[in-house]
Amino acid sequence: MVKVVTIVGARPQFVKAAVLSRKIKEAKWKNKFKETIIHTGQHYDINMSKVFFDEMKIPNPNYNIKVGSRNHGEMTGYMIIEIEKLLIKLKPNFVIVYGDTNTTLAGAISTSKLEIPLVHIEAGLRSHNKKMPEEQNRILTDHLSDILFCPSENACANLKKEGITNGVYNVGDIMHDAFKKYSNLIKNDKKKRFTDILKKYKIKHISNKEFYLLTIHRAENTDNKEIIYKIADAINSIEQNAIFPIHPRTLKILKKYRIKLSSKINMIEPISYLEMLVILDYCKFVITDSGGMQKEAYYSDKPCLTIRNETEWVETLKYGWNYLAGSDKKMIIETASKIQIPKKKVNYYGKGNTSDKILSHLLKY
Ligand code: UD1
Repeated sequence: MVKVVTIVGARPQFVKAAVLSRKIKEAKWKNKFKETIIHTGQHYDINMSKVFFDEMKIPNPNYNIKVGSRNHGEMTGYMIIEIEKLLIKLKPNFVIVYGDTNTTLAGAISTSKLEIPLVHIEAGLRSHNKKMPEEQNRILTDHLSDILFCPSENACANLKKEGITNGVYNVGDIMHDAFKKYSNLIKNDKKKRFTDILKKYKIKHISNKEFYLLTIHRAENTDNKEIIYKIADAINSIEQNAIFPIHPRTLKILKKYRIKLSSKINMIEPISYLEMLVILDYCKFVITDSGGMQKEAYYSDKPCLTIRNETEWVETLKYGWNYLAGSDKKMIIETASKIQIPKKKVNYYGKGNTSDKILSHLLKY
């Protein structure tokens, strides 16, 4: 029996663990792996955490470190201390970390200091912007990892450029598995789900395919007063209506600077994964600064306008599925007014069987 510890803590990690942690419980794998889940508590609001465990039926975490909100160093440091204590007790054969958050880095440091094999899922992504906390976290995590599961050829090539070639596998994107699995779950009652969402969140002026889905939360956008003003000004000038599930950090910043958004933008609380899939299906296009949303737009055949100057998911830029607009008002408004579904699409991110591939590799290792 292979003993695995999985470390999660922030919203995008719950979506990824929903696939792998559930897969481990399936007949094919359950006699081969025993998983313990550590939740760091980086995200702790019910609609940023518990809702995902409940709705996606993720096995409950065995431990919660409850780190809560702190500055980067203090948050990462506290998690390292507490994860180390648990790993010493649990003595796993592998530790799995996902993505690029402070939880990922803390998990990577605790694991590698104890000389336990470290597995990084979503390895090799680079924005080449070292000011982003996510870029710092992913570079450091990749360099500490023993097994690196990349979502694309390009991600493997990024690792090679940094001299990392051992233990590197292109297994496709685990979020593609999640997208396929959960889209299937809602396919028969999407219309009812959409109507229910409009009612639940009191969303107005929205009709099928005539609105866009908006999400903004990256520190590089929200934590710079000038940039968040520019973004708000730009989206206030877009003609179409929007649904904007707002991340707590963005809400705090808008309140702090007393930034008002147009009544065309339906600001609602953070939504669940299935609600996000439904809204994606009914929207015309997406405006976001999230890495995950760029791909979810791609998987749903929706064009995307990214409020950043670079993307780790460079493949989505081909054929016009994704446009980088930074915080440039003119670019944002113009792109939003003419955005269309491109004709050509290539699948760069695997077939949606990433979790099986990962478990097969781990068994062999
Ligand atoms: C983190 C990740 C980011 C990821 C995002 C997904 C890092 C450095 N960043 O950013 O890569 O895309 O998660 O959402 O790890 N807050 C709440 N309730 C919560 C969680 C957060 O109110 O449940 C507020 C807190 O005030 C906190 C702020 O949001 O200070 C930011 O949270 P934090 O976890 O530090 O970073 P995210 O912006 O969520």
